Amino acid sequence: MKPLKNRPHLLVFDSGLGGLSVVNAIVNAGLGVDIYHLADTAFFPYGEKRDEALMVRVPAVIQAGIEAISADLVIIACNTASTLALDAVRAQVSIPVVGVVPAIKPAAALTQTGTIGLLATPKTVTRSYTDQLIAQFGHGTRVLRHGAVGLADAAEAKLAGQTPDPEIFKAAMSGIFDQEGGASVDVIVLACTHYPLVQTELEALAPRPVTWVDSGEAIARRTAHLLQNQMDQTAPVLRTGLTTGGADEATHRVLRKVGFQTTQALSVDAQL
Ligand code: DGL
Repeated sequence: MKPLKNRPHLLVFDSGLGGLSVVNAIVNAGLGVDIYHLADTAFFPYGEKRDEALMVRVPAVIQAGIEAISADLVIIACNTASTLALDAVRAQVSIPVVGVVPAIKPAAALTQTGTIGLLATPKTVTRSYTDQLIAQFGHGTRVLRHGAVGLADAAEAKLAGQTPDPEIFKAAMSGIFDQEGGASVDVIVLACTHYPLVQTELEALAPRPVTWVDSGEAIARRTAHLLQNQMDQTAPVLRTGLTTGGADEATHRVLRKVGFQTTQALSVDAQL
C-alpha cells in the first residue's frame, strides 16, 4: 500500500484502539490531514508487558507503519509506549514523533485542593518518565497514582459493542479515591488513551464530580503546529485502520464503524 500523497499522512499508533481518542481530538480540531490508525493488536495490552519486550516491539511496529503509509508525522498515542520508548523511536525514524504522556501540567494548574489522581496502566504509573513529569510540572501538587488492571480491555469491549464488567470501573475509581488523601482529589488525569473512551462510565462511579483531563487537545495543537505549512483547508479524512494481529475482524469492524474507509493487516517482523 503506497497511497498517493497530496496532503500530510498522519500515523496514530497505539497498542489497541485507544488511539481513537486522539483521532477524535484531531478530527474535532479540524486538521487538514489524512489519518491512519495503527493498532498493535498482536501485542495488546502493553500495560502489563515487560519493558524489554516493548523496547523491541514499539519501534519496529511504528517503523513498519510509517513505511506502509508513507507517514509524515507519527503520534505515539499510547502513554505506556511513550513513557518508555519515545527517545528510542525518535532515534530510529526520520519523521517528527509526537508522544502522548500523562497531562500532569494542566492538571496541576487546575486543581484547587492541591491533590490530583493519576489513572494509567500499571506500567505508566511506575515509570521514571512519570516521576520526572511530576517533579517538573507538578509544582508541589500531591499526585495519587493508580495503575488500573483491565481498564483498557474494558474500553476495547465497549467499542466492540459489548458491556464491560462494571467492577472494572469501580475498581479504577476506588483505586484513586480510597487512597489516603483521596477525599481531596478534584482533578483526575486519564493517562491512557483508552480511558477517555470510558470516561462516562468512570464519571458515573466517581463519588463526586471532579475535573477530567486527558492529552487529546494538546496533542492536536502540537500536531497542527508541526504540520502547519503542509495542511490544506479541507476536513480530516480517516483513511486506513491497520492492525498487526491475525484475527482482527472485530477490530476492523470497529474501525470501519468509526469512519475509516479501509482496514488492513500489517505484517511486522519484530523478534521478541
Ligand atoms: N492506550 C495505552 C496507553 O495510553 C495502553 C493500553 C494498553 O495497556 O495496551 O497507555
